[in-house]
Amino acid sequence: MTTLQTYEIHGDVALITIDSPPVNALGYDVRKAIVDGFEKAAGDSGVNAIVLTCKGRTFFAGADIREFGTTQKSPVLPEVISTIESSPKLTIAAMHGTPLGGGLETALACHYRIALPTTRVGLPEVHLGLLPGAGGTQKLPRLTSVEAALDIITSGRQVKSEEALSLGILDKVCSSEDLVKEALGYANDLVADNAPRVLVRERNDKLAEHKGSAEIFNTFRSKNARRFRGFLAKENITKAIQAAVELPFEEGLMRERELFMELMESRASAAQRHVFFAERETIKIPDIPKTTPVRAIDSVGIVGAGTMGGGIAMNFLSAGIPVTMLEQKQEALDHGISVIQKNYQRSVKSGRMSEAALESCMSLITPSLDYADFSTVDLVIEAVFETMEIKKAVFSSLDAVVKDGCILASNTSYLDINEIATSTSRPQDVIGLHFFSPANIMPLLEVVRGEKSDLEVINTGMRLAKTIRKTPVLSRVGWGFIANRVMKFRSLQADSLVLQGINPETIDKVIYDYGFAMGPIAMKDLVGLDVIGRGSTELTVDSELVSMDRLGQKKNGGYYDYDENRQRTLSPIAMDLIKEVAAKKGVKQITADEDEILARLLYPVINEGAKVLDEGIALRSSDIDIACIKGYNWPVYQGGPMFWANTVGLDNVLNKLREFEQQYGDAFTPSPYLEKLVAEGKEF
Ligand code: 3HC
Ligand code: NAI
Repeated sequence: MTTLQTYEIHGDVALITIDSPPVNALGYDVRKAIVDGFEKAAGDSGVNAIVLTCKGRTFFAGADIREFGTTQKSPVLPEVISTIESSPKLTIAAMHGTPLGGGLETALACHYRIALPTTRVGLPEVHLGLLPGAGGTQKLPRLTSVEAALDIITSGRQVKSEEALSLGILDKVCSSEDLVKEALGYANDLVADNAPRVLVRERNDKLAEHKGSAEIFNTFRSKNARRFRGFLAKENITKAIQAAVELPFEEGLMRERELFMELMESRASAAQRHVFFAERETIKIPDIPKTTPVRAIDSVGIVGAGTMGGGIAMNFLSAGIPVTMLEQKQEALDHGISVIQKNYQRSVKSGRMSEAALESCMSLITPSLDYADFSTVDLVIEAVFETMEIKKAVFSSLDAVVKDGCILASNTSYLDINEIATSTSRPQDVIGLHFFSPANIMPLLEVVRGEKSDLEVINTGMRLAKTIRKTPVLSRVGWGFIANRVMKFRSLQADSLVLQGINPETIDKVIYDYGFAMGPIAMKDLVGLDVIGRGSTELTVDSELVSMDRLGQKKNGGYYDYDENRQRTLSPIAMDLIKEVAAKKGVKQITADEDEILARLLYPVINEGAKVLDEGIALRSSDIDIACIKGYNWPVYQGGPMFWANTVGLDNVLNKLREFEQQYGDAFTPSPYLEKLVAEGKEF
């Protein structure tokens, strides 16, 4: 027997406890420990019931993702489940934390399930580009309903105990915090009552109404067509649940396995598994030990109540942290705060927020026109205009009033944090906290490390991200940091392709088909051409459109015209302008197929990513992937630019860049780092 498991007898109940930190993932040792425990209990004539539980922070949080892609040793999870299901004893899963994926599937093999009120169950395999491969798609609809199973499994959402009880996933929710005591008591009651021992696999009543009709599945597919685009896992989940309705249990299980294996071998799942670990990696900084202190952030000051200041404030307010907002003029302050209120009101209207929560968030704001109001805050984030002189003046004013140890952060997109820090007497307390627009929604937070930033300050910035539900990515100081810098190269190529005579609609289609929600030209129209070209004096299609007061979606259309439903059609005016600007600039016209266009748009992003790595701006290539996914909605099932580059083959990327360099010049000159990796046969 392995040391992961303890086996105790309480009266006629066997208690099997598994302890495999951090999350009791169902790796080989854990699977073996469960089987050993059940086999022991089966042969124990004094035992009438078995309670399966876990120590530590959670009941099994799923299969061990690190084992995916390798040949798993027996007992594999289906064998564990079959051992539990064939147990001659009454079986109960006692759950806490987050029983997810294979963890919940293990619990579904038991006759009964009890959990703490704080437990959240779910089948989140979809986030890894997979489906529950150990019976989850066949059992959840049998326990709950086809509708609930479609919702829970395709969304991968975590279901709180109360809802899980009402849906039938749980049979009992504890009334105290003592899970084991209650589970043992529950086992005694069930044995005493001679409670039925019906396995989930034997229940068919919830499926009956949909037998012989595919309507519910077809409706579900068409309703979600847009959201599910590109996610093979969501389609396969739907197919597997349909199989649960149409086929006998064992055949349904085989169908589930087939659909699971198809996903496991897909590039999308490999990408999503990469993203799972990459997301957890960003917080690990080689020269910042785990023991590095974190400063408490219990109150925040924000300078500038504009687009970003308002959005940034909402993150803290929603986390219950008071915010003092400072502007130069009362009018700007009032306007900024009214925008925050309107945004929250929209959430209330759509049912995502209660009126009481809105009131509570708004009550945490202190409006201010006076820097002295920042004297007690723990962190100030500056979000004023993107001008070095203004930012320095703001930082100097902050330096004069804030308390010792207060962190001073800039939300600058492009400016040098080191230079900003020189305007204070405490450069060690200065960092960048770079949010992405809309700041209350986009999940990326770039934490920018200045030359003199204290390790404690950087660590606090990174940890703070979790409090406000963002993913932090560390960046060194450099123009555009990580995400803006690498993605800029896609925009440059989009503009260049337009001038070379490639239809803007084709450019947008190529990027949309790759998996982005929107192409770069449609995106310009959405952001506003005046905003994009701000400060530039160059002759561009954007500047010409702005001079005609065609600002994009907000005014008169831009590259596209928009109808009342915001449906777009390419604008003949824009097309004429493009030709004119191209002629004035003497741009040679080309033709290119969609593969070529995709490479033109995205290989420069990879190339710039290689430079960002080489310069030490990003710590690791997976951080660049996360920055693009969380900051620019790079399709998660492509894994981010660097992961995608590995799947394309770095030699292929390099050769294409060299070809483009020959044709179009030094915008495509390969990074020496990329050349080195290819020469050494390595990947990012
Ligand atoms: N396999 C391997 N490692 C896992 C893991 C898993 N299923 N789940 C979490 N871990 C690791 C993380 O990588 C992390 O490791 P690190 O400390 O070395 O970085 C550590 O456990 C802690 O994880 P988190 O930092 O995410 O801890 P949280 O407390 O924030 O979250 C959690 C805990 C909610 C369990 C979250 O980790 C999670 O969502 N895990 C994935 C759950 C999941 O997807 N389960 C389904 C797996 S697929 C499956 O079961 C297939 C089956 O149907 C056949
Ligand atoms: P904005 O123009 O919407 O807001 C700036 C606000 O700062 C205005 O309300 C202005 O009144 C106020 N302000 C200017 N000088 C001030 C001063 N001295 N004291 C107090 N308030 C002052 O600009 P936005 O878009 O919010 O950008 C702010 C910063 O965030 C810039 O550095 C920008 O580069 C950065 N940023 C912007 C993003 C975006 O998409 N808009 C994304 C990420 C960062």
